[in-house]
Amino acid sequence: MVCLGNICRSPVAEAALRHAAEQAGIPLEVDSAGTAAYHLGKPADPRMHAAATAAGLTLTSIARQVTAIDFDRFDLIVAMDADNLNELRSAAPTPASREKVVLLRDYTDTPGRDVPDPYYGGPEGFDEVVQIVTAGAAGLLAALQSGG
Ligand code: 4NP
Repeated sequence: MVCLGNICRSPVAEAALRHAAEQAGIPLEVDSAGTAAYHLGKPADPRMHAAATAAGLTLTSIARQVTAIDFDRFDLIVAMDADNLNELRSAAPTPASREKVVLLRDYTDTPGRDVPDPYYGGPEGFDEVVQIVTAGAAGLLAALQSGG
C-alpha cells in the first residue's frame, strides 16, 4: 500500500487489508510505504490513528520510502492516488514490475478515483479515508480470492 508520506492513507490501507485477510483466513503479507521521504521513521499521524482505532483497526507502520526491492518482493504495489500511481510506474525497475502497480479504488465501485489526501483537512477526512480503504481492501481481497 503506497501513498505520499506513509503516515495517513497507506498505513490504514495496510491495516485494513491485513485485518480483512486475517478475518478471511487468508495468509497475506501486507506492508506500506510512501513515494516521498518527508516523514521517514515516524508512526502514522495521530489523527489517522484516532480514526482507525474508532473503526477497530490498529496501525503499526513506521514511515519508509518505496525502494526498488519492493517491486521484486511484492506481487502487487497498490497506489492510493493517481500521483502515487504515476510515480510508482516511473520508478518501477522493469516492465514486469510496472505491471504490478495498481490503483486501490479500482477494486471498489468507484474505480479510477483517488483516496483523498486528508493531511491538510479536518477529522472527517480521516474517517472518509478509513471507509474508502476498507472498501478497497475488501475488493482487493475478493479479487485475490477469485484469482484476479
Ligand atoms: P499520506 O498523507 O500521503 O496519506 O501519508 C500526507 C502526509 C504528509 C504530507 C502530505 C500527505 N506532507 O505534505 O507532509
